[in-house]
Amino acid sequence: MKVFTAVDEWRAFRDSLGASVGFVPTMGALHAGHLSLVQSSQSDNDFTVASIFVNPTQFNRAADLEHYPRTTEADLAALQTSEVDAVFMPDNASLYPDAYTFRVNESEFSQHLCGAHRPGHFDGVLTVVMKLFNIIRPTRAYFGEKDYQQLKLVRGMVNAFFMPVGIMACPTVREADGLAMSSRNARLDAQQRAKAPGLFRTLQAAGSAAQAREQLEQLGFDVDYVEDLDGRRFGAVHLGDVRLIDNVAFG
Ligand code: PAJ
Repeated sequence: MKVFTAVDEWRAFRDSLGASVGFVPTMGALHAGHLSLVQSSQSDNDFTVASIFVNPTQFNRAADLEHYPRTTEADLAALQTSEVDAVFMPDNASLYPDAYTFRVNESEFSQHLCGAHRPGHFDGVLTVVMKLFNIIRPTRAYFGEKDYQQLKLVRGMVNAFFMPVGIMACPTVREADGLAMSSRNARLDAQQRAKAPGLFRTLQAAGSAAQAREQLEQLGFDVDYVEDLDGRRFGAVHLGDVRLIDNVAFG
């Protein structure tokens, strides 16, 4: 497994690859959800590269960025075991030579759901994903349905700007009790962890979004939103200072 930290070194190496390249962008703290994206990429492509970059511009709260789990050694070991071909781990200065004066802004869907509660979040996501696509030049890139709004926005950006990359959706990987795997789950204490699967269960079982919100509040969640949109129910909650999101398809 080759590890690249410098943009130019990856670019020189990329020029030597004739094969199809699958790309799995991540912020590290890897779990089985991330590794399922790696597996999909490996089955579709000759070469798979993952990135690890905790992108500061998508965090709207300084404390969230500060507390975001960083487990680089374990991440590299997991990617090595998964037989990933390369890892790209840039630093802030090399991805943001412009100091984030240039950014990608979507003005419609990004204002809803998570965007309404995390101002600027999707500008940061779309900007870093465009930068990563321009550097990595993947044939296909893999995104989880757990972050469904992100997946739709990345797909929208690729279509809007005619970017030559296929966006591949991968199903949400869950713990045995239904909780969607997330790097943030590691920050839940035992009591919060016991409560957390209630998010998925309630989104699935409630008769309406309004009922789901009420039930979640009764269970002790601090609810950001529950909304039904395009045949899916989306929810975001806080347990203490840990934010959890999930979504389920209807029917
Ligand atoms: P991160 O939260 O690390 O997630 C990286 C990818 O893994 C995303 O596509 C996400 O949807 C997917 N993923 C996370 N948990 C999953 C689960 N339980 N099942 C399936 N897929 C899962 O999303 C980001 O990083 C960042 O916003 C990024 C796209 C890297 C841009 O900074």
